[in-house]
Amino acid sequence: MKKGDIRRAFTYLESGAVALVTTHDSGRDNVMTNSWHMVMDFIPHIAICTGSWNESFETILTTKECCICIPTIDMIEKVIGIGTVHGSECDKFDRFQLEKQKGEIVMSPIIRDCLAAIECKLEDHIEQHGLLVFEGIRLWENPDKKETRVIHANGDGTFFADGDFYNFRDSMRQWVPDGSERLS
Ligand SMILES: Cc1cc2nc3c(=O)[nH]c(=O)nc-3n(C[C@H](O)[C@H](O)[C@H](O)COP(=O)(O)O)c2cc1C
Repeated sequence: MKKGDIRRAFTYLESGAVALVTTHDSGRDNVMTNSWHMVMDFIPHIAICTGSWNESFETILTTKECCICIPTIDMIEKVIGIGTVHGSECDKFDRFQLEKQKGEIVMSPIIRDCLAAIECKLEDHIEQHGLLVFEGIRLWENPDKKETRVIHANGDGTFFADGDFYNFRDSMRQWVPDGSERLS
């Protein structure tokens, strides 16, 4: 992956793409699937909803960081597998053949085959609602990725991929900050 402009990091999540959240603690990497997340502003601040039923949650509270990676539809079987097994049961990077790339700011790895990845620092934990609020600080993008359709979850075990794209940038100019145009 190559570094991208942090001003367009939020565009990879705003559409509700299913994400892979990587973590690192005590020499060990882990990854979980996450579809409950929300972009909160353009910086971007990103909230994800999770809890103590996931090992990644405890790791994030300890290390105060993660990397939010955006998989594409060709990775859907891995995405489901990652979200149905715990890191203590196996090395998910080995089991699902995920190639890693080192980030620059956090220790949590970038999944190289994803479309994009956002290195994030934890800013807040809203315990009552299981919300972890991050600031995204470094964007990585994969310009060589042929499949660019991201995955969307209905929440009932069914999924769909991106469909047609419609460009309303001109009429939305007041809400489209400079530098935020997504590559794909
Ligand atoms: C499609 C999908 C979406 C998921 N979304 C979330 C989510 O938004 N929040 C959450 O806490 N768990 C979510 N999960 C469940 C975790 O990914 C799962 O519990 C995972 O095994 C946790 O791994 P860990 O224990 O190694 O951290 C999702 C799973 C799948 C398959």
